[in-house]
This record gives sequence, structure tokens and C-alpha cells, in this order.
Amino acid sequence: MDQMDSEQRFRPRHEADLDPSLLFLPASDPQVEKKHGLSRRRKVFVGVALLLTAVALSLLTGLLVWHLHLRDGTKVTKVYVGSMTISNQNFLLQYEDPTSAEFIQLSELVSTQLKVIYSENSVLDKYFTHCSVQTFSDGGTDVMAFYQSEFDAPLSQQQSVDDALRSVENSLTPSQTQRGQMGRLMRPSTDIRVYRLMSAAVDPRLSRTSLHDRKSFDVHVSHADQLASPGFPDSSYPPGVLLQWRLRADPFHRVRLDFGSLVLEDDCEQDFIRLYDSLVPSERHLLTERCGSAQKSLSFLSSGNVMLLVLLTSEDRNFPGFIANYSQTPLLDSDCGGTLTADRANFSSPFFPSFYPPAVSCVWNIQVSEGKLVKVEFHRFSVGIRSELCPNDYVEVDGQRLCGDSLKNSTIISKSNAVTIRFTSDTSFVHQGFIAEYRTLVSTQPHLLQLCSEFSFLCGDGVCVRKDNPQCDGHVDCEDGTDEEHCECGVRPYLSSKIVGGQDSREGEWPWQVSLVVRGMGHVCGASVLSDQWLLTAAHCVQDSAGIRFSQADQWEALLGMHMQGHTDKWTVRRGVRRIVAHPRYNAVTFQHDIAVMELDANVTLNQRVWPICLPTSANHERPGTHAWISGWGSTKEGGFRASVLQKATVQIINSTQCSKLMSDDVTDHMMCAGTLQGGVDACQGDSGGPLSVTGSGGRFFQVGVVSWGDGCGRKNKAGVYTRVSKYRRWIKEQSGV
Ligand code: ARG
Repeated sequence: MDQMDSEQRFRPRHEADLDPSLLFLPASDPQVEKKHGLSRRRKVFVGVALLLTAVALSLLTGLLVWHLHLRDGTKVTKVYVGSMTISNQNFLLQYEDPTSAEFIQLSELVSTQLKVIYSENSVLDKYFTHCSVQTFSDGGTDVMAFYQSEFDAPLSQQQSVDDALRSVENSLTPSQTQRGQMGRLMRPSTDIRVYRLMSAAVDPRLSRTSLHDRKSFDVHVSHADQLASPGFPDSSYPPGVLLQWRLRADPFHRVRLDFGSLVLEDDCEQDFIRLYDSLVPSERHLLTERCGSAQKSLSFLSSGNVMLLVLLTSEDRNFPGFIANYSQTPLLDSDCGGTLTADRANFSSPFFPSFYPPAVSCVWNIQVSEGKLVKVEFHRFSVGIRSELCPNDYVEVDGQRLCGDSLKNSTIISKSNAVTIRFTSDTSFVHQGFIAEYRTLVSTQPHLLQLCSEFSFLCGDGVCVRKDNPQCDGHVDCEDGTDEEHCECGVRPYLSSKIVGGQDSREGEWPWQVSLVVRGMGHVCGASVLSDQWLLTAAHCVQDSAGIRFSQADQWEALLGMHMQGHTDKWTVRRGVRRIVAHPRYNAVTFQHDIAVMELDANVTLNQRVWPICLPTSANHERPGTHAWISGWGSTKEGGFRASVLQKATVQIINSTQCSKLMSDDVTDHMMCAGTLQGGVDACQGDSGGPLSVTGSGGRFFQVGVVSWGDGCGRKNKAGVYTRVSKYRRWIKEQSGV
């Protein structure tokens, strides 16, 4: 019941609902006496009724108390499943056949042993009713018995049964060091030695009484094969069934289960699969519960050589089900962890991208040369459940625990040249894990490591270089050389030979300049070449307007290596557009985030007229006063015609505070201004999306802006406004890989 509901239900009757004549008739009214006579009789009647109600109520209360008391005393059967490790037996194949004499004999020994163990504890002794062995597995040097025990205890005593079981089991489970000598030979003397006992409650849904069918399948996974829900994929799974697949690998191996397809009902209360790190459905070993359909392939591993897959279905709404590949993989110490000494390496949770197995503990010791620091970056992270103390599964970096589905800060820098990373998973609920990379940093300028200003260059090894535009200037400034990597851009390979206030450019002068054409409309916007597959343009060029679907890739064509509109030659490349990604936060009112990337429908071969422009990684290039270039086929005067030959002009970068004063609309720090204060030189309609570029000290061109907006074109005391590309370097990389 929701709150509104309860409020309505208990709101007192409104006064207007009462009969006003009963309350307000004057006493002198002759009618009143008659009414009083009537009401006296009514009073007696009401009194008797009240008395009877009170008696009934107290009876009811008594009954309730009695009932509650009785309920408290009513015994309820609680079912536990568990495993017992038997150290002095060798596994026989017959132990997997419940009808064999060997199975029956060993089961009896296990049951006897359990009874003895329970009888030594007063609580368990009092409530224990029944136990049975479900199955056995080969533990290599031990035999594992999986059993079910039942206790009939009053509700009030259920917790004490839980506690008693836990304490008995703890006393029987030795520490790793004791294991060699331990093993308790129980009274009365039998042939089995038990050294580990572990039990847990069973999900009550698995004991649904309405089930038509319960079946178990024994599967040996040493020969990889497939298993599927009944009828998959031709018909849906049967209603009202509990199916269990007991998966066994060879000793010292893990079971691996990879789901190819998983389509169940969305409501987990109805149909679900569960995966256990055991051969019985013990809640303490539940790895995952799934319902609905899986978006990506799911893959799981056990901690030991057994796994249980359970499918439970309800009466209605049945779905195709699942198919999964099973196999085994050796249990190795080297599954994770180790000592890492290289300057750079990747490491991950075991079996990533499969879900990590339960009960793993990995330690990586990263030790790099003296004087260096270690920068660890997590690329993917899903470890346990997000919580402050990370009590279950976690990654620990130099004592700092990390858990959850994502990290606030995925980069951690060490305080010395050694870092210890631990990864721990508990016995239940597994997740996909993590993949991480580490690199070394030079620790001479530790204060700069996370604080590279926007006017310095961040090298791949995390060091900041404080030099104007070190990127692609022909000098190696970073120790790791990353400032001179990816420099096949910004040059005019074989230069042979309007913008308002500009002039004709020479052929091949701006090999990154692109004309974006809408089919049936001709040139609409400019763009620039980033690679043989990606272009950069303005988001406002690719917004639907006036019934034209500018946002759709199939509306566009890109002309690369063109000089004069309408004229193509052997260097000109024409491509369709496969995909347009406009910045998701582009705002059509403020022109904030006016940037987009376009993927061509086929790669182009770079040539002397088609060449990428460099992208700046820091704001170095944008210093006010810097001379910059604009190019395009836009109007050569405000309201004028488009240029036929590609125009070029130089403008100056204008300080943002000054620019904000000039412009009537807001200029944000994600925009930048360029122009000439006397006016007359500017970008204009049709230049949008094109580049504003500057030259670095090595002579390469860097695109610092994207033509975005202005007040008219070339007006005095106005400026052209451009999207500040350095603010979007990461976004461009994420979208295009460039
Ligand atoms: N929005 C225009 C276009 O779509 C470009 C405006 C540039 N204006 C300027 N004065 N800088 O082509």
C-alpha cells in the first residue's frame, strides 16, 4: 500500500458528512423530546453493543497472543546443503552412481559422521531430523561429499541453529598449516576422516512445491562440449521445472562455462538460472543469478573442480532458454599475480574478460628502477559491489581498497618505485574484474605529475614538458619520445604552386580542407581531414533544419583535395559519409560544444592534396595575438555569394575577456575568438565546420578552432567565434580513435 492510499483510507470523515440536525436542534423544540426518548433507548442499545465489542476484542487479542506464542513454538523445517571433505578415501568412479553399493556404503558413513558431529552440539542434537548425501566428487587427494541436512526448529531458534552449525564447522575446518596433520576421526570409530565441513541454507524458491519435475544431470567437462536448456533453440523450456547440471572437471582443474545465448523471462521471481561454486545449491557459494536476456556473452569459472548450474521455471511465460559451452582449465598458481619489472605492462583479474573465479587472491609486485614512479591506470573495472569498506571482493593498491562498477579516479600514481596490488574475491558473487596498465614516470618533478597545466605538454610517461608547443616540432622533448609520435599531419606534402577579406589560395595549400556537400544542395559547410577515414566539422552543420535531414549521414558527401567548387581532378576524392557523431552536449541556442566528427564510408589514400591536419593537445597554440589561418568556400562578404576558389585569410587569436566584451552573446572557455579589430577579415556563411589553424615551430599546421559563429561577417569591433579544439582532444580520440 502506498502512502497516499493509507492516508485516504484513514482520513477522518469530513464534518459535512455528519447529520447536522442531530447536533444542532434547539432543546425547546417539541420534536426534540420525542427524539430524546428515542435516543435514550438507542443509548442503551449502543452501550450493550460497545460492551460486546470490548469482550470480543479482548478475546481476539488473547487469541492473537496465544496464536503468536504457538506460532513461535511451531517447528519449521530448515534445509541446509553442504560439503564435507574426506581425507582418507580414494575417489572411485562408482561414487557418482547413487545406485552403486560403493555410493550407498560411503553415504552411510557420511550420514553417520554428520549425526555424530551434530549430536555433540546441544542445539543441533535437539533439532536435527534427517540428512542425505546428494553426490560425491573427486578432490584429487580427497573425496568431497555433498549432502543435505534438515533441522526442525521453532522459528525463534532458527538463528541459533545457524550459529551452532557455523561454530561446529569452524572447529572442524583447520587452518592451512594444520591441514597436513588434521582430520578428525569421529566417534563411533568409522573409516572416514573429515577435515572440512561447510553448509549453508538453500534459497526457498528451489523448494517450490508446485514443481512438476526435478532432474539432475551429471556432466564431465574434461571433454569440452555444450549443454542447453531442454528444447533450445526450437522450443521454449518446460514450465515448473527445477533442473540441475552438476559439472565436474578433473582434479586440479577449474570448470569453465561460457554462455552463447541466454534468454529467460525478465522476472527473476519466475524463471532464473543460478550458478554455484559447489555441487549443491549452497547460498554461500552462489556465483550469480540471471534472468532476462544477456546483452553480452557471459563466461564463468569455478574455484575448484565442480560447478552447479540450476534452472528454475514457473508455470507461465516460458522463453527459449540457454546454450553454453563447458570445458576445463588447469588450476595454476600463475593464474594471476607475479613480479613485474618492465617499464610498462598490462595486467588483469584472472581470466578477464570472463568473470573472475571465486576465492582468488592475487598479488602483483611492481618494482621499477630507482627514481621512477609507477602510474597505474584501470581501463575496465567491475569488482564486487560498491561500498565504502569493500569487504567482499576488492583491488588494493598500496593499501587503498577499490571496489564497485566504476572508479571515480581510474589513475593512481605511486609514492615510490614499488607498488603492491592485491586482488581478492570471496566465495560468492563474481564480477567481470578489471584490466589495468602501468607505466613509469620520472619522479624528479612529482608536483607536476598530476598538474600538467594546459600550457605544458604531457608526455606518455606522465612527465610534463614546459616548452611552447613541443609536439611534432622536430625535437624530441619527452624522454619516451611521445611528443614526436603521430606526426604525419599538418604539412603540405608537395605544394606546387572567400573568406571575407581573404584571397585565393594556391592549389594544395590547405590539403586538410574539405567541402561538405548535401545531395541536391551543393556546398554547405567546411570540414578538415583528421585521418584517412575521419573528418572534423561543426555540430551546427549536422542538425536537422527546415525539413532537411542534415543529421543523417546518407545526406552528405565529402569532397577532399578540391580547389575550385564544381571542378574535380585526379587528386580530388569524393566519399559518402558512414557516420556522424555530433557532440552530445551541443546546444543550438548558445552554440556551446559546436563540434562533430564524420566517418567516411571508405578510407581515402592520402595524397599531395589530401592530408591530415595536426590536433593540439594543449592550449599552447592559442595564445592571444598568435597569427592563425582560416580557409573556406564561404561568402566573401556578409550576405554575399559563396567563393568558387578556396579562400584563405590570416586573423589573430583574441583574448577571451576582450572578446566577451565585443560579442553580444556569451563566449565560453570552450570557444575562442579570432579576427582583426578593424574588421574586414573573417569567416562567413559557408565556412562553418572549417579549420582555424596555426603553425607550430616545426612548420606544421595545428587546428586550434572550428568555424562556429559570429555577428554578421567581418564587422568592425567584432570577432569570429570558433570551437576551441584543445578542449575536445579527448572526445575526438574517444569517438574516432584519432
Ligand atoms: N555559422 C556560419 C556557417 O554556418 C559561420 C559563421 C562564422 N561567422 C563569422 N563571422 N566568423 O557557415
